[in-house]
Amino acid sequence: MVKKMSDLMMQIEKSVRNMLESAPCAGHDITHTLRVRNLCIHIGNIEGGDHEILESASLLHDIGRPAEFKDPGADHAIISAQLAPGILTATGFPAQKIPAVVYAIEHHRYSSGVTPDSLEARILQDADRLDISGALGAAMTFAYSGAMDRQLYHSSDPLAEHRQLDGNEYALDHILSKLIHLPGSMHTSTARRLAGERNIFLKQFVDQLVSEI
Ligand SMILES: [Fe+2]
Ligand SMILES: [Fe+2]
Repeated sequence: MVKKMSDLMMQIEKSVRNMLESAPCAGHDITHTLRVRNLCIHIGNIEGGDHEILESASLLHDIGRPAEFKDPGADHAIISAQLAPGILTATGFPAQKIPAVVYAIEHHRYSSGVTPDSLEARILQDADRLDISGALGAAMTFAYSGAMDRQLYHSSDPLAEHRQLDGNEYALDHILSKLIHLPGSMHTSTARRLAGERNIFLKQFVDQLVSEI
């Protein structure tokens, strides 16, 4: 019997929960994955794209995170892309769509600097970046920095007026070097608009943080 797509997605979500809920991931936990899934569906409803590819790729995009957390030299996008086909096949996901899901997962990273060829991959990149472009981005940055034993900010030059920003040393530097610029990196106009709204809060947060320092 052919499974209903909603049952299949629930099965994929269950597998992802099993993989992420038990593993340390420093802010990049299952709640990020579920928000990215919701953002992908929202953006896809406006911009188009294959709903099944979008939902499955977003659910699976960060399953390689725990492996990268253990070994910072590993690339979680590649690991997620390698793990995804096994899960998709086990659930009975349409085989002809698996390469498109794998492609989107492989290309979801901000740091890859790549503009993907497919609409679904561009929407996943947008949703992933949108989730870290406002209040949640700041929260996740501080959680990750804490797990990595990094400092909140540079003690004498928090805004890096006389030094290079270093997101690997200071949480605030990560916000200033990456998160604050995310709206300009969006591919779709829907994500660009939403990221612009979140960016207003993020800039206010940085202003307030610096004034308190
Ligand atoms: Fe990721
Ligand atoms: Fe992500």
